[in-house]
Amino acid sequence: MTIPTIEYLGVTESAALACSRWVGKGDKDAADEAATTAMRSFLNDMAIDGVICIGEGERDEAPMLYIGEKVGTGVGPKVSIAVDPLEGTNLCSNGTANAISVLAAAVEGQGRLMAAPDCYMEKLVVGRECRGVVDITLSPRININLMAKALGKDVGEVTVGVLDRERHDRLIAQIREAGARVMLISDGDLSVAIAALDPESGVDALMGTGGAPEGVITAAATLCYGGEMQGRLVFSNDDQRERAERMVGGNVDRVMVTTEMAEGHVVFAATGVTDGNLLRGVRFRRGFAITESIVMRSAQGTIRRVETKHLDEELRHPPCN
Ligand code: FBP
Repeated sequence: MTIPTIEYLGVTESAALACSRWVGKGDKDAADEAATTAMRSFLNDMAIDGVICIGEGERDEAPMLYIGEKVGTGVGPKVSIAVDPLEGTNLCSNGTANAISVLAAAVEGQGRLMAAPDCYMEKLVVGRECRGVVDITLSPRININLMAKALGKDVGEVTVGVLDRERHDRLIAQIREAGARVMLISDGDLSVAIAALDPESGVDALMGTGGAPEGVITAAATLCYGGEMQGRLVFSNDDQRERAERMVGGNVDRVMVTTEMAEGHVVFAATGVTDGNLLRGVRFRRGFAITESIVMRSAQGTIRRVETKHLDEELRHPPCN
């Protein structure tokens, strides 16, 4: 049984609308809570027997949308759902670019999403034209040269998104030495990874280490776009490693490719909260709000951009002061 695309879209739209009231207000927890509450409420109205496989954390650390939480009416297809109600909590509270609401889902027996331990993941994400060309075990210089060739560009025209973190000082230097352009981002590597998958976005790749849960959701988007993602889990302590051994299995130091993290028929939806490389943020007009989203199905190979007008939106989510 197929769940209508529009249903998934409604989930991320409702979360984006709710937290958009907190854009620029300097309160990232309130923004996250607004997004999470709205997303959960929408999910619980859906005719699915859903379970959260990637969410706001473990049951003891997250009151809502924790891993293992049941969502939906309980009647309908069994669906694994990976969510990030507000990806880029700081971006939203600071009113800066690339905050999004995001979801990936797989119906049991049709698709699969990997369980993601709460640790970091080293990531390399490229679009369709560079699929089969890059290798995370090679140096950034080699990968960038291979990408430039595949894209038919000069190396100096290749743009790589990287989280602005001390741990990336060497990576950033290597990309620059290779002659490519670095787009430093303060947060939101999931958002920029999706942009890297889209040939029109102006970003050609995402490199560097960010959250592993965001990594698995990125893999779902990569599958839908037909791009390529390679990831390697990074552990800060033995607990994280043991947890990954239980959740992921096998050699947890291996390079994982897209289909190990997201496989088969998956759906991916994202709605812009603030303006970004791929999506516009929520815009308010007299009496209504406008959202921009992307929704994709790997099985059908569809990538839809959807602009939605939400009438009387201020009644559902009153402005916060
Ligand atoms: P939040 O939405 O939880 O604030 O996370 C944003 C984010 O920037 C992710 O996009 C990224 O994967 C991760 O945090 C990076 O983590 P860190 O800030 O520890 O480097």
